[in-house]
Amino acid sequence: MSVAVRSFGKINIGLRIGASRADGFHELRTVYQTIDLADIVRVDMGRGTGIEVYCKDPRVPSDETNTCWRVADKMLRSLKMRGKVKITIEKNLPVQGGMGAASSNAIATLFGLEKVLKKQLSAEERLRIASEVGSDLPLFLVGGTVLGTGRGEQVYALEDLPSFPCVVATPEIGVSTPAAFAEWDKRYPAPAKLTPQPASDKINTFSQSVYEWLSGSSFSPTGVPENGWDRAEALLLDLVRTGIENDFETVVFPKHPAIREVKRALERSGAKYVSLSGSGSTVFGLFADQAAAEKAAKALIDNDIPAKATTTLPRNRYWREIFPAK
Ligand code: C5P
Repeated sequence: MSVAVRSFGKINIGLRIGASRADGFHELRTVYQTIDLADIVRVDMGRGTGIEVYCKDPRVPSDETNTCWRVADKMLRSLKMRGKVKITIEKNLPVQGGMGAASSNAIATLFGLEKVLKKQLSAEERLRIASEVGSDLPLFLVGGTVLGTGRGEQVYALEDLPSFPCVVATPEIGVSTPAAFAEWDKRYPAPAKLTPQPASDKINTFSQSVYEWLSGSSFSPTGVPENGWDRAEALLLDLVRTGIENDFETVVFPKHPAIREVKRALERSGAKYVSLSGSGSTVFGLFADQAAAEKAAKALIDNDIPAKATTTLPRNRYWREIFPAK
């Protein structure tokens, strides 16, 4: 039996880096948002034992360092089952591009393997396995608009944003996430974090800004409209005013000015909100209309920058579309 699973990507709408922790990770706060671009992960179960990962892209490892491999291994142990698991990844999302593809592929493996084994892990067990494999996995157990806390692995479903037209542009520049965190520590060594604003305050302010943004309580005197496109447009405008930003930009842009240039190009093309996603190199723009998004993507492609026009993907669609129709 073989099961195909859509493995959607994500963007980060704002990301605040806090204190580095004793375990080597950093506290952070972010709003994850799933998007309507996906890899396809196929899971097969056969006779024998072992886990095999196949992907045409040579940058995707096929050994036990692959997140899909690690999730499959942990699941078999948890369920006390044996068998030969074959995982095939059809890439569409950029590799190490800040769109969470490897994390999403791993969660797609979890759902696919549950189906082929006709077993379901408990919600706690799913979350345990996901967070052991990486900070960005658990968000894909929720989908839609998700608040990430802790090292990013503690996830809370937020009221879903409407579906926004979105352009993702991924310049061909490899940005290592651990290196970006290390650069952050160099730039903001621990004692400096106490001035002028303690790290914890900065982190709390982020949560407050997100609350104000989503409830529309801070800036629009009449409040954000309940439904429809007016609400979507008001939310986009409020997002900019709330000052929700990605801290990685302060370390990634000086090192890779070409990525900053992509941000500027998207701003010039009429995007309402533009930001780096994760530690990059993906930069995304949220637009008020799809035609403008398509035009912006085309302009980037004409300048040799890989880009795609898509939409953000609300939770109900994430779950409806995760298993493609045969
Ligand atoms: O959890 P994940 O595998 O994505 O993390 C990769 C690396 O990124 C970690 O080993 C750590 O160096 C860094 N990281 C961090 N703080 C986080 C998440 C990741 O320092 N909140």
